Amino acid sequence: MRLWAVRGDITAVDVDVVVNAANPALLGGGGVDGAIHAAGGPEILAECRRITCRLPDGRLPRGEAVATTAGRLPARWVVHTAGPIWSASHDRAEVLRSCYRSSLQVADELGARTVAFPAISAGIYGWPMDDAARQAVAGVRSAAVEHVGDVRFVVFDDEALAAFEAALSD
Ligand code: APR
Repeated sequence: MRLWAVRGDITAVDVDVVVNAANPALLGGGGVDGAIHAAGGPEILAECRRITCRLPDGRLPRGEAVATTAGRLPARWVVHTAGPIWSASHDRAEVLRSCYRSSLQVADELGARTVAFPAISAGIYGWPMDDAARQAVAGVRSAAVEHVGDVRFVVFDDEALAAFEAALSD
């Protein structure tokens, strides 16, 4: 499995699966979530609603992942995952690694070969970028997949790109 990092807008990436940094309610938001729903169109939210109806108390547990259509995006599917909110006093690193592992397993079950991840939890959820990158790479490397051969981290700025390139070189 090839892992690499690139600067860009994840909604424009032509891959099988784009991973969304969602929230447990799967109702859209800002950041990546807002961009994916804006570019992908209303079908994505409609399918999210159908999924949440079947989830315990209507919410996706943090660290887990579900797939929907990608709507008008170049990708075939969106895999939505809800990252942990940064805490200086509680170690939630395993939940963040689980976002990557679970998302890859969902993508692999769909038969996806190429997957694009954003820097989950490193925006509104406040996770320090350097550690977010380390957890991302560790989470992807811990996943057992059969079909996925190419995983890229699509990041929004040079600081994030440097953080992911450093994490990938470890
Ligand atoms: N493409 C790639 N990266 C992006 C894009 C984009 N179009 N838009 C934002 N980013 C980057 C941010 O700069 C940040 O580094 O993605 C990273 C994740 O930031 P957020 O989208 O804020 O995600 P997160 O920190 O996980 O917070 C999730 O925010 O949007 C809400 O509904 C969402 O409640 C959830 C929370």
